[in-house]
Amino acid sequence: MSESKKATLKIRDNGSILITGDVELVDAEGNVYETKPAFSLCRCGMSSNKPFCDGTHKEIGFESKPRVEKE
Ligand code: FES
Repeated sequence: MSESKKATLKIRDNGSILITGDVELVDAEGNVYETKPAFSLCRCGMSSNKPFCDGTHKEIGFESKPRVEKE
């Protein structure tokens, strides 16, 4: 039996969302994408390989560095 690892979605500065852990990526019809143990989703909206990041965010100068607001 394989041990599952909690999924983590890490928002990268000026880039994609890195997904690791036990997670399933499905389209709007419920079809499951084949993914690697770690993969990145496009956050800039300009990837030619959506929903995955293809690195285009670097070419277009995408800027976004969200942070959790701390009280
Ligand atoms: S975030 Fe990388 S191509 Fe959009």
